[in-house]
Amino acid sequence: MASEKAVKSDAGRQDRVHVPFLYASLLLGVFGGFSLAVSLPIERAMGGFDVSWVSHAQVHGHLQVVGFAGLFVLGMSMRLSPRFGRGDLAFMPLVTPAFVLLVAGLLMRALGQPLTDHGFFAAMLVAGLAAELLAALAFVLIIGATLAPALRNPQPHAVLLVGAPVWLAVQAALGMWWLTDLARDGGTIVEHGRNTALVNLQFFGVVLSALLGVGMRSFPTFFGMPPTSRPLGLVMATLLHAGLAVWAGAAVIRVVNGVGSDTLNVVGSVGAALVGVSILLAVAAFGLGRRKHRLAAASRGFVFALQPVLAWLAFTGLALIWAGGRAAVEGNPIGMQELDAVRHVFAVGVITLAIVAMAQLMLPEFASERIVNPPVPWRGAAFGLALSAAAVLRGVLPWAGLAGDHADWGMALGGGIGIIAVAVFGYLYWRARRGHVAYTQRIAAMRARNTPITTVSS
Ligand code: HEM
Repeated sequence: MASEKAVKSDAGRQDRVHVPFLYASLLLGVFGGFSLAVSLPIERAMGGFDVSWVSHAQVHGHLQVVGFAGLFVLGMSMRLSPRFGRGDLAFMPLVTPAFVLLVAGLLMRALGQPLTDHGFFAAMLVAGLAAELLAALAFVLIIGATLAPALRNPQPHAVLLVGAPVWLAVQAALGMWWLTDLARDGGTIVEHGRNTALVNLQFFGVVLSALLGVGMRSFPTFFGMPPTSRPLGLVMATLLHAGLAVWAGAAVIRVVNGVGSDTLNVVGSVGAALVGVSILLAVAAFGLGRRKHRLAAASRGFVFALQPVLAWLAFTGLALIWAGGRAAVEGNPIGMQELDAVRHVFAVGVITLAIVAMAQLMLPEFASERIVNPPVPWRGAAFGLALSAAAVLRGVLPWAGLAGDHADWGMALGGGIGIIAVAVFGYLYWRARRGHVAYTQRIAAMRARNTPITTVSS
């Protein structure tokens, strides 16, 4: 009896393993990254561009990409890896310490970096970096061991999902190296080349890798497509990992040598273009433009969120191929403004919209909501429209050349739309979670009393 209870409580823990990740991601997004996304462009438009602005922009980037997006995809990986691997989550007792270390590391880094001229905050920055690295290594162990059977006979979704914590660890190790230098020297801004390498690893290594891993299993199902073939999936995963390794590797060599070269620029830019090619393969396999889908009636409106995710993903892939290809021919790295714009199309149009849409289609909380209190049919389209508008304001207009005050006010508006969308989604998730807990308790009570479960949804 005792061991049956233990099995049940383990299953229960696995069933809610994603919950703290999602809440932490949404809190860091709304009160950290997205708040800065609104304030930074307003500050710049009003003439407040200085060293501290750049330092806060780097804090915004880290909180958004590792905090908001990273915690979310890690939470989803914790939930989905056992299902994809058809087993239990490995090293379950490590999950909470790893989660606490990552959140503490993010907060310490965000507080420490802008204030490294005080010894206390410099030490806090270094402690934050160490915590982030330890957490990343624990996630490599947890997700790697859970998906080990699917890695041995390599399944592309496993190669992609395990890639995410591996890249998290790589960027954390590089961050530890480069930002410890910063803390020692009392600097508050990470040098541009190093920072670009870290941010690229976070965006395309941690987040893209996880999104493609989950997408490979879910998008073809949503759109009634055949599953992505194993060879195509492996080519896609290899191009992504190899392209990124080349792109970031060129930056690391430049740091080690202390000087760049045309060859390194060409190699790095080719790496970026390869990442773009892997993205286009994913888009082709996932069903861009498919009008047919297999979503249940209560989820149908989410087609209008999923199709924009794929459209923005296609934009990101094409823009990386174009920018990387052109820079390689010219012997340059990709220009800073262009890369920032493309990364934000990806950040808002793909990452944020995919988080909001896929969570509502895949999480048990929203499945319970659909049974007990189905959402309005336009919810998916509203998120699709709002976040696409934010992607245009933050990414597409600057990519097309809009600059100066007009661009900054547009970005601030995009940030405002983004923060509202994520806060609304946070509220919907909190409400669905409460409903889900009540619903599952009612079902359990009925089961205990042998009452027919069909009466529940009335
Ligand atoms: C509409 C919403 C957003 C706005 C208005 C916004 C605004 C900004 C601004 C003004 C910068 C500084 C760019 C510069 O140095 O000139 C920046 C950088 C950055 N943002 Fe955003 N952002 C938004 C959403 C996001 C999201 C959703 C993510 C990630 C998921 C993200 C990740 C980053 C990163 C990684 C950087 C680079 C930071 C660095 O230089 O280290 N942003 N953003």
